[in-house]
Amino acid sequence: MQVIETLDHMRAARSALRRPIGFVPTMGYLHDGHVSLIHRAHAECASVVVSIFVNPTQFLPGEDYERYPRDTPRDLALCEKAAVSVVFAPTPAEVYPPDFASYVEVTGLQDRWEGAIRPGHFRGVATVVAKLFRIVQAERAYFGEKDYQQLQIVRRMALDLCLDTDVISCPTIREPDGLAMSSRNVYLSADDRQRAVALFRALSAAQSQLLGGETSGSSLSSTMKDLLVKAGLDVDYAAVVHPSSLEPLERIGREARALLAARLGPVRLIDNAPLRPATWSETQK
Ligand code: PAF
Repeated sequence: MQVIETLDHMRAARSALRRPIGFVPTMGYLHDGHVSLIHRAHAECASVVVSIFVNPTQFLPGEDYERYPRDTPRDLALCEKAAVSVVFAPTPAEVYPPDFASYVEVTGLQDRWEGAIRPGHFRGVATVVAKLFRIVQAERAYFGEKDYQQLQIVRRMALDLCLDTDVISCPTIREPDGLAMSSRNVYLSADDRQRAVALFRALSAAQSQLLGGETSGSSLSSTMKDLLVKAGLDVDYAAVVHPSSLEPLERIGREARALLAARLGPVRLIDNAPLRPATWSETQK
């Protein structure tokens, strides 16, 4: 496994890799969710590149950029074990030289939900992912559904900017009690870790209510919000939206997506799930 820190070395390395290349962009502190993306990339590609880069431009002032969990030796050992061909781990100065001045915005999609609460966050995500796509030039890139809005934004951007990398979405990997895996789960106290399962319960409750015949988006949103509040979480949003435009849905006809964001003390958690009416079938996908 090669560990590469500069753009020039990455460009040189990519031309020696067997194609197709599968790319897994990460901010490190890898968990089973990331490992599942690497495995999927292996199943579909001849070489796998993982990037590890805590991207400063997607953190707002006062957010956790400085204390974001980092453990590069452990990450590299995990990548080695997962037979990754190249780990690209640039420094911030390599990605953002002092005269850096160009940013990518995905208008509309970037402005609601997470974007409304963390203005500028998706501009940072889209910019770094566009750069990484250009540097790695993989045929496919693998993203978890856990960051559902990010996934839609990256997909739109890759199409709009003809980046020639297919964006592949992969299911959220959960702890046995249903909590979605996230590098930030380490911030949860033991008590809050118990409470955090309320997000998964709220998503499951909305799906059950839909199967019971309730198709009103606002009723399902209220169900989820009430459950979160009862469990002691401060809710940022509990929404039922169209799966690709992310516009709120008043009535669920075909598939919808439930999006949640809530705070437990200083820790913000997000989660989401598809909402499928009883009449939904795989062929409608
Ligand atoms: O999901 C993440 O880990 C990050 O937002 C990403 C896509 C690696 C961009 O920094």
